[in-house]
Amino acid sequence: MTRHKIIFGDCRAMKELEDESIHLMVTSPPYFNAPFDYKGVFASYGDYLALIRDFAGETHRVLAPGRIAVVNTDDMLVEGEKYPIVADTTLIFREAGFRYRDKIVWRKPEGYIRISRRSGVILQNPYPMYFYPDNIQETILIFQKGRYVYPKTRDPESHLDIREFQENKWYLTVWDMTNVLPNAKNGNVAYPAAFPNELPYRIIKLFSHKGEWVLDPFLGSGTTSRVAMQLGRNSVGYELQKELRPIIEQKLQVGQGSLFDEAVIEFIERDIIVREAKKSYRTKRQRV
Ligand SMILES: C[S@@+](CC[C@H](N)C(=O)[O-])C[C@H]1O[C@@H](n2cnc3c(N)ncnc32)[C@H](O)[C@@H]1O
Repeated sequence: MTRHKIIFGDCRAMKELEDESIHLMVTSPPYFNAPFDYKGVFASYGDYLALIRDFAGETHRVLAPGRIAVVNTDDMLVEGEKYPIVADTTLIFREAGFRYRDKIVWRKPEGYIRISRRSGVILQNPYPMYFYPDNIQETILIFQKGRYVYPKTRDPESHLDIREFQENKWYLTVWDMTNVLPNAKNGNVAYPAAFPNELPYRIIKLFSHKGEWVLDPFLGSGTTSRVAMQLGRNSVGYELQKELRPIIEQKLQVGQGSLFDEAVIEFIERDIIVREAKKSYRTKRQRV
């Protein structure tokens, strides 16, 4: 049985979590003032970096020694100006005490362009200085809290599927993964900024054992909790918007039949447990 806590509250203070109680953090912070989804949400870039700084500090506090923090983010173009979010996030995590371990580029299918087709400018003006490439990537930053002490005995249940690892080229620093289109329905769930299941799926398998605790401080539609549940891990997610609860419930299939493994899901509104739902979930080793 796995446990899942969905906490509606600000992840800048994860006061429900004890020091060193989490085994893996994987998340996608809000996009800095992204056109459409996050337009004008942050008063300044400094405000945005303050959020990243607070969440990095809290992540460092709650993560067990040696464990991994993964941040899916990317530089952001806002009104013609590119903000160096990847570089700044890396610096902030290092300042918070993490080791910078790796950077993966997530390459999306070529047909996918989230913001605009800037590259058309040069077709209209085929001369130097009109080059504006279209962005089809995001970045996956991997940080570590000190060094991991490898256990003497290995957990056979957390054994990786090496064929899957090889065939899908997890061993490269470029991962080809299909994105979730904004407003596309992902398991009947429409939400603008979800990452694909495949992202937490790879990270959770690579950096946690069955039965451990996975944290997503910016839970959104609940993708990380859903995948953690499918992979036999416990999860904690923070989310500011209470309105997302029906979307999270749908993603976690709360109240939808009982098939194999039981999971306990708690919805918590800062200090008040608003509901505890027992559900069951298919644990068949299917790709999610
Ligand atoms: C990019 S989305 C995450 C999407 C998620 N990975 C998914 O697959 O659905 C970022 C989320 O962070 C939430 N958020 C923003 N600031 C927050 C904060 N201080 N504490 C908790 N959640 C926050 C937003 O409401 C938004 O739903």
